[in-house]
Amino acid sequence: MADLRFNNCSFFLVLFASLLVATSCRGHSRNALFIFGGSWNDVGNNNYMETAIKANFLPYGETFFKNATGRASNGRLVPDFIAGFAKLPLIPPYLSPGNNEFTNGLNFASAGAGALTETNVGMTIGLKTQLSFFKYTKKHLNVKLGEAKTKTLLSRALYMFSIGSSDYITFATHKTTELPSYTRDEYVKTVIGNLTDAIQEIHSMGGRKFGFSNLGDVGCSPFLRALNEAKNINGSGCMDEVTVLAELHNKALAKALKKLERKLEGFKYSNFDLFAASKERIDNPSKYGFKEGKVACCGTGPYKGNLTGCCPKTVCDNVNDYLFFDGVHPTEKANYQYAKLMWSGRADKVKPYNLKTLLKKI
Ligand SMILES: *[C@@H]1O[C@H](CO)[C@@H](O)[C@H](O)[C@H]1NC(C)=O
Ligand SMILES: *[C@@H]1O[C@H](CO)[C@@H](O)[C@H](O)[C@H]1NC(C)=O
Ligand SMILES: *[C@@H]1O[C@H](CO)[C@@H](O)[C@H](O)[C@H]1NC(C)=O
Ligand SMILES: *[C@@H]1O[C@H](CO)[C@@H](O)[C@H](O)[C@H]1NC(C)=O
Repeated sequence: MADLRFNNCSFFLVLFASLLVATSCRGHSRNALFIFGGSWNDVGNNNYMETAIKANFLPYGETFFKNATGRASNGRLVPDFIAGFAKLPLIPPYLSPGNNEFTNGLNFASAGAGALTETNVGMTIGLKTQLSFFKYTKKHLNVKLGEAKTKTLLSRALYMFSIGSSDYITFATHKTTELPSYTRDEYVKTVIGNLTDAIQEIHSMGGRKFGFSNLGDVGCSPFLRALNEAKNINGSGCMDEVTVLAELHNKALAKALKKLERKLEGFKYSNFDLFAASKERIDNPSKYGFKEGKVACCGTGPYKGNLTGCCPKTVCDNVNDYLFFDGVHPTEKANYQYAKLMWSGRADKVKPYNLKTLLKKI
């Protein structure tokens, strides 16, 4: 009888000890993921808004989720894959009801969002509002976990950004009527200035690890090729103005991040060269397992670039042949390739660290 009690007791001791180990290991390895940006990162926030900018209908989401989720692709987006690589569950959209588990992070991104409040105003959650949502989140965490644990969670977390395409598309196509008189350089400076403000604010709230993606070769997306053709502008076939703006932005972003690294205590970042990665795939799709890098899988008109035309009737037969799912958004297969490069790519693709290394840094 005594033996049995002893055995029971040691069993519970062992169990308790292994639970402690399991808990502390999990505590060490888990980095929450807070996601900001536009449609490349939006996993469903726009579903809960009154806006025309939505991907809540088939064939969006069909391949992986078997239903539309609001993601502008046939399946998962880059943040979904990054969450998987970091051994986290899918990070839910901030606006989805019933969210009370914030400790793995949250996704604030909204399709159409820019760094500037003027971009698609009224139809999207701009960066400033995304930031105010993050502030509410911090308050909730403080109440739920206490300030010390929240501080640890926020300093270990990864803050992912993909933003800017919508700012430059609206600027180049003259839809940003509120800011009509900006030169290219002034506009880029304003976009980077607002992004820098957001980074500094997150840093002041305790954020340390930031993951960026620069802008892809946006001017060569099917949507802008089609628009370019409609305007009958000669050139590369791409909307060169937008590509030029993306390149200016990318240079300014790299510079701004280096400056922030010097200025902000403990600030560490990863900057993925999406421009190079997207251009390589547009120019040489077959090298990366695609058959088509110029025409979208789903849409209408030239290059199937018309986004509003994507519906079950206009979707391609084999989505895995395509780099672009619709006029501006990658297929799940392309998102996986981009995410993989961000996570574990070499220094010529992602600088100064890839995300895997960044997360290991204290
Ligand atoms: C599919 O998504 C739509 C809206 O996004 C939702 O109303 C519907 O309930 C979903 N269907 C299933 C089977 O999950
Ligand atoms: C942020 O953008 C606004 C326009 O939305 C602009 O007036 C302001 O100067 C920008 N801020 C910075 C720091 O560039
Ligand atoms: C584009 O090129 C064609 C043939 O070279 C020429 O006829 C046309 O005027 C050009 N259009 C513009 C807008 O420059
Ligand atoms: C896209 O298609 C819609 C109809 O589906 C049409 O109203 C719109 O003008 C088209 N846009 C462009 C840029 O061609």
